[in-house]
Amino acid sequence: MASILLIYSTTDGHTLEICERLQQVMERLGHQVTLTSVEDAPGVDLASFDRIVLGASIRYGKHHKKVYEFIERNQAFLERKPNAFFSVNVVARKPEKNRPETNPYLQKFLRQISWQPHELAVFAGKIDYPRYGFWDRQMIRLIMWITKGPTDPQTVIDFTDWDQVDDFGHRLAKLGEKGSCQPAG
Ligand SMILES: Cc1cc2nc3c(=O)[nH]c(=O)nc-3n(C[C@H](O)[C@H](O)[C@H](O)COP(=O)(O)O)c2cc1C
Repeated sequence: MASILLIYSTTDGHTLEICERLQQVMERLGHQVTLTSVEDAPGVDLASFDRIVLGASIRYGKHHKKVYEFIERNQAFLERKPNAFFSVNVVARKPEKNRPETNPYLQKFLRQISWQPHELAVFAGKIDYPRYGFWDRQMIRLIMWITKGPTDPQTVIDFTDWDQVDDFGHRLAKLGEKGSCQPAG
């Protein structure tokens, strides 16, 4: 049994929901999983975990700056343990952009950091127009209009492929076992 830390960066809670699903999968496989937000992560004793996983959503083209800060401050630590990163964004709803190698945000992110996670994933996120403030709603509707997505302001749609999340949970459960701990590039 491994003790696994899942750190999430979320604005509207969807990345946390994905982490909760990963937690369920890994706990069912007998691991001990702890969830913490990237804001609370500096207070967590990273040394007490066997594996570390970081998940972050995209907002206006970027992961939150706290994600970069966490990586910068803890890179040496991360590199000493089996580790993984995943990104959540709605561009990943497009089949040609839903893999780590083909998702532009994840690829850009990997060029910006020097940490090379051992495992990577990208998940399509959620659109919840009624939840957004006026300007965010208008901006996302505009982006959706340009990219041929839903623009009805009442739309709530979860693009996440939960089977893909479950598969990632299974991969994380094996992270660091013989032959599975190589930088994913
Ligand atoms: C204000 C706002 C800006 C967003 N910007 C982008 C973006 O630039 N590219 C993208 O693919 N998705 C974008 N999204 C979609 C989010 O990544 C998606 O809703 C995700 O599920 C949010 O996860 P979270 O609830 O964990 O923050 C945006 C969403 C909002 C509300």
